[in-house]
Amino acid sequence: MSALSELYEEIALCQQCEIAKYRTKVVPGEGAEDADILFIGEAPGWHEDQQGRPFVGPAGQYLDQLLASIGLRREQVYIANVIKCRPQGNRDPLPSEILNCRNWLERQVELICPKMIVALGRYSMAMFFPGKSISKIHGTAQKRDNVIYYAMYHPAAALHQQSLRRTIEEDMLKIPSLLAEAKNMTETDEQPRQLNMFEV
Ligand code: URA
Repeated sequence: MSALSELYEEIALCQQCEIAKYRTKVVPGEGAEDADILFIGEAPGWHEDQQGRPFVGPAGQYLDQLLASIGLRREQVYIANVIKCRPQGNRDPLPSEILNCRNWLERQVELICPKMIVALGRYSMAMFFPGKSISKIHGTAQKRDNVIYYAMYHPAAALHQQSLRRTIEEDMLKIPSLLAEAKNMTETDEQPRQLNMFEV
């Protein structure tokens, strides 16, 4: 059994938050265990809770289309969420839930070791770009410790607000060149820096 599968067994036992009592299935994440890109959404919705898989509802179908626009299938990347249980009624995650789940996400990042982390939406963005606003930093990247962090609007936001569709689609198209840049980066380049191409 892989280390990630073992981690999922631990996550499935987690009862730290009240919402664990109401979940149908826990949604740890899925994809290539050695993925170059890790996409991190917010929290499971109804469909995800039913299936135990991330991004399988309408927002997930749109994410699949966005991935296809850069020649990727979901099996080639890794998809996870900030929190692993569905908040009832699809409410926003509570700070305590984000805190309780943080350790799971950190362990996923350690095991997958992605070259690029794409934060989808403001809760995910807040973990990697604290104090920033998604409307200001979407489509921009920052490199820290040889990982490129990139912020995008949440696919569900673009489904609800047509005017964001073009923005999210354009932001997605920037990923291949950023990833190529990540692969070319030298191991010795340890300083946090904004990538020149997309300035915050
Ligand atoms: N929205 C998310 O943030 N994550 C999912 O898995 C599904 C919808």
